Amino acid sequence: MTKPCVIALAACLVFPLIAIPAPAPAQNVVESNTSTRPRDVIFVPTREPIAEAMMRLANVTKDDVVYDLGCGDGALVIAAAKRGARAVGVDIDPDRIKEATEKVRAAGVQDRVTLIRGDIFDPKITIGDATVVTLYLLQSLNEKLAPRLRSELRKGSRIVSHAFSMGDAWPPEKTEQVEGTVVYGWTVQ
Ligand SMILES: C[S@@+](CC[C@H](N)C(=O)[O-])C[C@H]1O[C@@H](n2cnc3c(N)ncnc32)[C@H](O)[C@@H]1O
Repeated sequence: MTKPCVIALAACLVFPLIAIPAPAPAQNVVESNTSTRPRDVIFVPTREPIAEAMMRLANVTKDDVVYDLGCGDGALVIAAAKRGARAVGVDIDPDRIKEATEKVRAAGVQDRVTLIRGDIFDPKITIGDATVVTLYLLQSLNEKLAPRLRSELRKGSRIVSHAFSMGDAWPPEKTEQVEGTVVYGWTVQ
């Protein structure tokens, strides 16, 4: 092989490798400075029919920004993003954020989802741009979050909770029975 041929061959082999862009990240994954304190409640995923009922109760559309506080493996952020909404999931457990990252990508909605590894009680994780907040925590945690939800969310924002109310201090406006559980809905006044 002549010298020019060898150079041309080498160029053909090397340039395509150089030209291949780095793979895009699955989606925005943000690390907050949250300490590694233990989670407040274990992971139990919301099943799809219940996730759909929550989206319906909150009337989630493409114009919404949906925050799932304690997002687990991403079931609710995926349901919201499939409706065209922008969704943000926060979870304290790095394994859940890893699973959510994979599932969001598999669902093809990574361009509309941001995942934050952090504590939902950390005031540095602001929730003020949410128009909808989804919860599947515990009644005691909903009650602890209620002052944040009332003070940080704009008037008209909706909150939906799988299985747990906010106690007597903040009765729900709507409830729906779905698959043996209850979904609760509130609007910030
Ligand atoms: C019952 S699971 C609900 C998961 C998801 N929202 C769903 O409905 O499928 C509760 C989630 O909250 C997370 N979690 C518990 N305490 C938390 C905290 N202080 N900050 C952020 N996430 C928390 C857990 O790691 C778990 O993934």
